[in-house]
Amino acid sequence: MNFHIMTLFPEMVTDGLSSSIIGRAKEKGLISLNAVNIRDYSNDTKHHKVDDYTYGGGAGMLMQAQPIYDCYIDIKNKIEKENGKAPRVIYVTPQGKVFNQEIVTELAKEENLVFLCGHYEGVDERVLEEIVTDYISIGDYVLTGGELPAMVMIDAISRFVPGVLNNDESAMTDSFNNNLLEYPQYSRPEEWMGKKVPPILLSGDHKKVDEWRLEQSILRTKERRPDLYEKWLSENPPVEKKKKRRKKSSEAQVIDETVKDSENNGDNI
Ligand code: ADE
Repeated sequence: MNFHIMTLFPEMVTDGLSSSIIGRAKEKGLISLNAVNIRDYSNDTKHHKVDDYTYGGGAGMLMQAQPIYDCYIDIKNKIEKENGKAPRVIYVTPQGKVFNQEIVTELAKEENLVFLCGHYEGVDERVLEEIVTDYISIGDYVLTGGELPAMVMIDAISRFVPGVLNNDESAMTDSFNNNLLEYPQYSRPEEWMGKKVPPILLSGDHKKVDEWRLEQSILRTKERRPDLYEKWLSENPPVEKKKKRRKKSSEAQVIDETVKDSENNGDNI
């Protein structure tokens, strides 16, 4: 996966993504970071200006179209030379669709992703219309620039690149898989500050442990993220089981009783 970041602060992105798991993934060549300074594409050779006042008045400066467009064309030409396909271009903005795990898994399928990081009061609309394919926000609050949101997205997407996580499975079992939050976890010692590890986790019965973890995930999601719980419930409706039961022989009558399968319904857990 190759990430291309159009920014006025390339070192902020490269420094921020140079350590830990992402740093290691970069060293291993599993991902690449190409942070490109938009200022290098300014037509203003003297001051390398990239912003100007907004038409119609109003406070603040706006990033101009030309340096961003030229920067993008340079990146796009290089990508197209290698794999013949124009990349998706993400403008990180509080006006975008809110980032979530579904978007992460969708974007992780791409070979190249281009991020545009805005600053000041924003970006000239005309260049956005020309190059942007996706408008994405990391939440309903406003940051000083797009670099941190781009880094958040790159981190989340990189986790889905094969080999980035030591244990490939962990990407599948973490929070938000199937719209459920992750179950509580415990490490040694068995007792800390008078709090004991739930005995089932020490039982060695993997089936029971899995069942307990699923129960805990459901409970936790219901309590902490009722919105996600409703989503999960609609995708995992309680299974209606038909159970035949014979009444007393004198009545010699077979009745059907519909029971709810509690394993598939968080209400009983
Ligand atoms: N730029 C500024 N605030 C942002 C946000 N919440 N999400 C994405 N980009 C942003």
